[in-house]
Amino acid sequence: MSKGLWIGLMSGTSMDAVDAVLLSFGEDRLEIQSTLALPYPEDLRARLLQAIRNHADPDELGELDTLTGQHFAQAANTLIEQSGVDPSDILGIGSHGQTIRHQPSGKAPFSMQIGSPAIIAEASGITTVSNFRSRDVAAGGQGAPLVPAFHRWLFRSATQDRCILNLGGIANLTWLPSDETNNITGFDTGPANALIDAWCYDQTGKHYDENGQWAREGEVNEELLEDLLSDAYFVKTPPKSTGKERFNLNWISTHLQRFDDLPPEDVQRTLLQLTIDTILQQLPTANSSMAVYACGGGTFNPLIMEGLREGLKGVELRTTAELGLDPQWVEPVAFAWLARQTLNGLPGNIPTVTGAKGERVLGAIYPA
Ligand SMILES: Nc1ncnc2c1ncn2[C@@H]1O[C@H](COP(=O)(O)OP(=O)(O)O)[C@@H](O)[C@H]1O
Ligand SMILES: [Mg+2]
Repeated sequence: MSKGLWIGLMSGTSMDAVDAVLLSFGEDRLEIQSTLALPYPEDLRARLLQAIRNHADPDELGELDTLTGQHFAQAANTLIEQSGVDPSDILGIGSHGQTIRHQPSGKAPFSMQIGSPAIIAEASGITTVSNFRSRDVAAGGQGAPLVPAFHRWLFRSATQDRCILNLGGIANLTWLPSDETNNITGFDTGPANALIDAWCYDQTGKHYDENGQWAREGEVNEELLEDLLSDAYFVKTPPKSTGKERFNLNWISTHLQRFDDLPPEDVQRTLLQLTIDTILQQLPTANSSMAVYACGGGTFNPLIMEGLREGLKGVELRTTAELGLDPQWVEPVAFAWLARQTLNGLPGNIPTVTGAKGERVLGAIYPA
């Protein structure tokens, strides 16, 4: 397997920023050289949000593909400049792109990411791999989550059952049993930050509730919580994946119809409790010898972390920092790893996770 430098570019459903990482891979370890989070300009973010809410014709979608590609390319080039490495030492870029729609079930399943990889390859001069989800969907899978294969590579332990829990806009978990004869499972549990971000923005104009301060002013409304928990997604058996097309402001409004005199901070606190409860309910098992390792932006919200820790009742909750990888960079590193798999002709999906018919080499390659 080749050594050398790789770049991973990721923006999840929170649409906060492109997270970019430059790193090298060894046999079973990695070394981060440089990192960068490049926030979306406010107008691009607003247009992407509009597009996700169904207000994009082909002209708008095409322009957004280009503008988002330029933003991802800027993240890659800034990362290269700040690191001082020779671009010719970089073997490839893995770019997730920005999900506009994730519809992996139904008559015509698809998962659509934009952020033109041609522009990234052209601007950086580096081979770029993108569109990772579509091949898994074509093979009958959910196209998501795709990070579990990377989690297995880096985080699996022969002595400890581990759950890797990513708290992005959506929460996804990977169950890594120490016994290799047991299947690895992984799926989206539902919202992590998506609903608390959406409600916070709607009510306060801020993109997120910093450190959960606003939610702390409210109280959980048990009746509303019960109503929210009744969504069929939470009891669906995996493989399953979801996104902003389900868990969004409309979803909140529908559930709030019977609760229109609730103080907004109580709604915020209740939505945050929904995140905590749905994760706890869907943990594959909870035994005292296992540990949960969290990553993603939700690890910076102490109220989410406190709630999870309380509910885990003695099962250790840590972050991936304790396994040597900063929680903010797990996802972009995973897409660098997936690009490396692709360029080495190796599969990137786990069929027991996504439900695909088999392992597949993922992605489309845009040569340097
Ligand atoms: N200090 C913080 N307090 C509360 N929430 C935070 C904080 N920092 C980040 N977040 C949350 O993390 C989200 C971004 O997480 P991220 O892992 O980038 O998600 P995604 O993969 O969906 O882009 C923000 O939208 C916000 O909800
Ligand atoms: Mg993000």
